Amino acid sequence: MSNIALEVRDLVKSFSLDGATIQAVDNVSFQVRSGEFVALVGPSGSGKTTLLSILAALLSPTSGQVLIDGQDLAKMNERERVKLRREKIGFTFQSNNLIPFLTARENVEYMLRLNGALNHGSRIRSDELLARLGLAERLHNLPAQMSGGQQQRVAIARALIHNPAVVLADEPTASLDTERAFQVVETFANLIHENGRAGIIVTHDLRMCQFVDRVLQMRDGKLVRIIEDKNEILEFAGAAVH
Ligand SMILES: Nc1ncnc2c1ncn2[C@@H]1O[C@H](COP(=O)(O)OP(=O)(O)OP(=O)(O)O)[C@@H](O)[C@H]1O
Ligand SMILES: [Mg+2]
Repeated sequence: MSNIALEVRDLVKSFSLDGATIQAVDNVSFQVRSGEFVALVGPSGSGKTTLLSILAALLSPTSGQVLIDGQDLAKMNERERVKLRREKIGFTFQSNNLIPFLTARENVEYMLRLNGALNHGSRIRSDELLARLGLAERLHNLPAQMSGGQQQRVAIARALIHNPAVVLADEPTASLDTERAFQVVETFANLIHENGRAGIIVTHDLRMCQFVDRVLQMRDGKLVRIIEDKNEILEFAGAAVH
């Protein structure tokens, strides 16, 4: 029985807007084990990014609990949350947020540098990871010298390089062509499985669900469906059932 890397209990996030209250996340509970790759799907505005931001400790919930590696985010002070985010969480956002004046390699190494873990060995790992994502020729390019899809792949490498317990990716394939998106999500899945991370990927492209172990579907802030059976997942992804 592998351990629970991420646990969410009765999570609620409401926003007030022009006197009205929006329940962006409405009483959501689930767990993700180490080595498990989960897709979070749902229509635009269903609360996916809000949920991911709370899991990344970037946004506080209105109520409910988040435990990362058994640690309750609400019981930490800001300094401890920053440390946890830096060491245990890897994330990519809908916009990739690369640092514009650093090369691909330097953007990835930045996470190692923050953790005081940049050395010869970790630099080799960083170059290997970029190569695995098809960026061997791009190590010394700045973000502005790369395509949107190449930048997204650098952001994925940056989310994985420091061996976080939890990896959160919000639409990491949005600017990739289909073939490349399949490759990237498959590589992503392999890295999650090989290294025992807990991964959550948000995607609008249901075909990407064929690479995950579980699908969580949101609507209006609520978790409305969970698909765990591999054949059902493949069917949901529109892939052939073997
Ligand atoms: N800071 C905010 N203030 C007010 N409302 C917000 C805020 N952030 C998000 N919302 C609202 O919360 C709801 C969920 O938004 P969220 O960004 O989580 O959706 P999403 O599922 O990620 O959508 P998309 O697929 O378009 O990225 C939306 O109705 C949105 O308008
Ligand atoms: Mg979103």
